Amino acid sequence: MNDKNDLLKSKRMNALLGGGQEKAAKQRAMGKMTARERIAYLCDPSSFMEIGTFVRHNCQDFSMADECFEGDGAVTGIGTIEGRKVCVYAQDFTVMGGSLGKMHGRKIARLLDVALTLKVPVIGLNDSGGARIQEGVDSLSGYGEIFYRNSRASGIIPQITAIMGPCAGGAVYSPALTDFIFMVDRTSQMFITGPQVIKAVTGEEIDAQSLGGSMTHSGISGVCQFAFPDDSSTLDGIKRLLAYLPQNCYEKHRAPVFGDIPLDPGFSAVVPTSAKKSYDMKNVISLIADDWMEVSEHYARNIITAFAHIGGMSIGIVASQPNCMAGCIDINASDKAARFIRFCDSFNIPILTLEDVTGFLPGIAQEKGGIIRHGAKMIYAYSECTVPLVTVILRKAYGGAYISMASKELGADMVFAWPDAEIAVMGSEGAVNILYRKEIKSAPDPVSFRAAKMEEYEEKFSNPYQAAKNGYVDDVILPEETKRKVLYAFAALDGKEKHSPEKKHGNIPL
Ligand code: HXC
Repeated sequence: MNDKNDLLKSKRMNALLGGGQEKAAKQRAMGKMTARERIAYLCDPSSFMEIGTFVRHNCQDFSMADECFEGDGAVTGIGTIEGRKVCVYAQDFTVMGGSLGKMHGRKIARLLDVALTLKVPVIGLNDSGGARIQEGVDSLSGYGEIFYRNSRASGIIPQITAIMGPCAGGAVYSPALTDFIFMVDRTSQMFITGPQVIKAVTGEEIDAQSLGGSMTHSGISGVCQFAFPDDSSTLDGIKRLLAYLPQNCYEKHRAPVFGDIPLDPGFSAVVPTSAKKSYDMKNVISLIADDWMEVSEHYARNIITAFAHIGGMSIGIVASQPNCMAGCIDINASDKAARFIRFCDSFNIPILTLEDVTGFLPGIAQEKGGIIRHGAKMIYAYSECTVPLVTVILRKAYGGAYISMASKELGADMVFAWPDAEIAVMGSEGAVNILYRKEIKSAPDPVSFRAAKMEEYEEKFSNPYQAAKNGYVDDVILPEETKRKVLYAFAALDGKEKHSPEKKHGNIPL
């Protein structure tokens, strides 16, 4: 009996050691935590219950019988974060480079099944050399099982992946199928094919960080939504994000709780009245939100996506950023906003849209890049929303971009506009140049003729009252009333029920 207990204890000890002290030390020397240290840091103390501690691979090829580790390089289990139940897995790079064989893959797939049964978020901490080469097609099968479950769980439970080491080849597609990707600066990379393969195939030369590091994916490709300097700040970031998310798509959002909201002159201080002057919309968000967290901060900075708390309620914010490209919408901005809107709608998170938009970005590159197809994503995403939608038009709301950004017609429940709002097909200069091209040419004084026509146009359209008269805007509000009105609106909209027509699923223009 004692022998059996001792055997269990020694097996447990082996499981805790992973690939051994030496490899763990190497991991730490790189500034990385081990898989188990990461889980311990992420979860509440003593809350993690491991599953599949003694799973091993059964590959006999390439001397693999000698390379057998308890747990097969993946630590999986259920724990709590700030008291909320979550499923967590961490790949252990000290065990065969965290490579994914059949059993390693099956452990993660099983955890996804458990998360779906329990209806709790799943968090993956990836650190892996990819498909375990020795196991051949069996490791590819392991990935397939994970991809399938990531896709099936999408929209039911939040899925978060942190890339905390290498993530190469087809392995990148599990993170890509999840809702949010975090990356650690310097120590993580994601790519389909690494620098050596690229050099062999295309002759291009690049280092691993420039190809697939956190700055590349947070700022250029848009693959990752969050980048943090090290393991602990990345895990802290995941905890912070979770505070805005529900456990699953069946959880209803909470109505805001608030007292008397004082008028705030700060709004007029941060937004210049002249439509020609830019400003930082983040200052406006800070005045509305009790706290907030930006999503995809470094990608498509002309639009801001963020989670926020107002009156204790989680909301998503989609906001123009006049500080970047005058807040116009381009391909990347539409993609970014559409994905965020769909996440919020899937998980019953109401959306506040702050609009100061000059239009869709003109240009050959945009047209040839498919702005028509990409721009349609944001329209589609807003149109299929069933969550409460509140829109505030601060200054400019022009053309297709006005209609596309949570307009009344696309389903917004409440649209407010500031007195300086200009809601029109386009700005006065462009409009007058088109409407009076011939007259300007033949006028004795073209400059003053154009100026007079622009004034006439601005008087007619550069205000919110034409839109309010026709019911496209529900109310014109003073800037200082913004927070109060937004909170009242979300409180008023609590209990909104809107059902999508019964169908298999829509066909978003991908
Ligand atoms: C088996 C692997 C492995 C793999 C690493 N190891 N990757 N074992 N299969 N894919 C082992 C190494 O042999 C080594 O074992 C240990 O892990 C640590 O690896 P090192 O190379 O010493 O570490 P490092 O120098 O930090 O380099 C890490 C690395 C490199 C960049 C990840 O190991 C690497 O390039 N690995 C191969 C990456 C790759 O091409 N993977 C396949 C991608 S294709 P020892 O015993 O020496 O400690 C793919 C398809 C998925 O994943 C398709 C899904 C549909």
